[in-house]
Amino acid sequence: MTAHIQIRGLSKSFAGQILYSNFDLDFPHQKITSIFGPNGCGKSTLINMISGLLPMDSGQVLFDGKTLEKTVIGYVFQNYRDALFPWKKAIDNIKYPLQIAKKSSADIEARTQELIQSFDVRFDLNRYPYELSGGQQQLISIMRALAPYPEVLFLDEPFSALDYEMTLFMRDKLQAIFETTKTTMILVSHDLDEAVYLADHILMLTRRPTRVAQEIAFTAPRPRQTNTLTSEIFNVVKGQCLDIFQKEIKVLS
Ligand SMILES: Nc1ncnc2c1ncn2[C@@H]1O[C@H](COP(=O)(O)OP(=O)(O)OP(=O)(O)O)[C@@H](O)[C@H]1O
Ligand SMILES: [Mg+2]
Repeated sequence: MTAHIQIRGLSKSFAGQILYSNFDLDFPHQKITSIFGPNGCGKSTLINMISGLLPMDSGQVLFDGKTLEKTVIGYVFQNYRDALFPWKKAIDNIKYPLQIAKKSSADIEARTQELIQSFDVRFDLNRYPYELSGGQQQLISIMRALAPYPEVLFLDEPFSALDYEMTLFMRDKLQAIFETTKTTMILVSHDLDEAVYLADHILMLTRRPTRVAQEIAFTAPRPRQTNTLTSEIFNVVKGQCLDIFQKEIKVLS
């Protein structure tokens, strides 16, 4: 399998405390990789460095052999309330990355309509973010991230601020987008059921200094549905993840 994202020799410390030291990792093409690990092990820091939101101390990240500057990425933040531009209507939030990329108004219009149709959006996109529900805002945030056809979509606990009903809806929406677009996705989730349910691979991280404890494949067929959560393969994989996780959190406790 060829790597889509290749991380080599990544090091990062905060205030003299080593988080990553000479860390290597590959993320596969056209797969959903979930990142799971103890609190504070550096999941957000990792994807923030890969996506260029945070500088590395040293190391290299390549996307299909290209640098970040030559790669289109999308990022969905945990806190959608801070992520959307409150002064822009929902529709203008979605259009924003296309405007930044200096697309023509015809292209922007066409892409926006395409997104609206593929997400089957029924609510009024001429409303401002504060006029929308949490789930609707996070949907806008995901549509905005997808607008420029990102090669990689990063999601840091994207559903953790949503209620349960909306979380279930959004998980399936994300899965449907993945099945249609096959966009490589890197998902940080603190919910093990969610991490496994959505993933092709689950990347289990250790405590700091952070390493990959194990990478576990989850090959249940898509679309995954409620009955996936009670299937044998799901429970076996979740059990493996839980074992690794528990060993990790025992190390220092
Ligand atoms: N800007 C910063 N300055 C100093 N320390 C930081 C900074 N950002 C993160 N850290 C520290 O680095 C470690 C990793 O943080 P990070 O947010 O990446 O963890 P995480 O795995 O995403 O945690 P969580 O599960 O709580 O979301 C933590 O110990 C955190 O305190
Ligand atoms: Mg985090």
